[in-house]
Amino acid sequence: MKLIKYIDISGKFDYDLYRSAQENGNKRKIDKVWASEEVVRKLSAFLKSNIRSLRFGLCHGTRRGKEQEWFSKYTDADFLGTEISETAIQFPRTIQWDFHETKSEWIGKVDAIYSNSWDHSYDPGKCFKGWLSCLSPGGILLLEHTTYHCEDQVSQLDPFGIALDELVLFLTEIGQGDYSVVAVLRNLTNEERMSKIGLAVVVVRRHGPTVDLETWRSV
Ligand SMILES: C[S@@+](CC[C@H](N)C(=O)[O-])C[C@H]1O[C@@H](n2cnc3c(N)ncnc32)[C@H](O)[C@@H]1O
Repeated sequence: MKLIKYIDISGKFDYDLYRSAQENGNKRKIDKVWASEEVVRKLSAFLKSNIRSLRFGLCHGTRRGKEQEWFSKYTDADFLGTEISETAIQFPRTIQWDFHETKSEWIGKVDAIYSNSWDHSYDPGKCFKGWLSCLSPGGILLLEHTTYHCEDQVSQLDPFGIALDELVLFLTEIGQGDYSVVAVLRNLTNEERMSKIGLAVVVVRRHGPTVDLETWRSV
């Protein structure tokens, strides 16, 4: 794994530097949507077949907010997105919020969390621990992984990179037996864009029933 540090001249973590790098990147790419509606539709079916009472979800690092719109549409649950940039207010179901932080009302209360933006984390251990702490019993965290999330893609804007197998080990360690990687989903879409970049979705679950890996595929 590789992690770029944002430090000031005295070697201390410089949060303003991180925040402005993310905000500038967000504004530069404000017209772009990375997430795929087809993938979100499939993941929604997966969530519906594996979570008994799917009511509230979070999407982290959402720019134009399409993923929370699509998850809300396909699951009928209420999905909210976090976005560090001030542009957040332009998009429905989106709050301006740094995803490294948790709100007290989220702890143990979020049925599903999705992100394709975790490679923008300045401290992935803090970030993933925070997200897992929000899961309700049996709740599910979905993390998209592609070649763009690997070490060789690390930059000032995307400070964290990790191979898929290392990510699975990292999450297993962080989960400490209370949260487990229960599946890695592939073949979520025939879209050329996503298959070229090797889309996989890592599924982490707070302990609960085992996951159904079949029925959701036929939707
Ligand atoms: C690669 S883009 C993906 C946007 C969106 N998920 C999509 O599929 O189009 C990453 C987004 O995460 C946001 N972001 C970066 N760091 C963040 C943080 N700490 N908290 C919340 N959002 C963050 C960026 O501003 C950017 O809009």
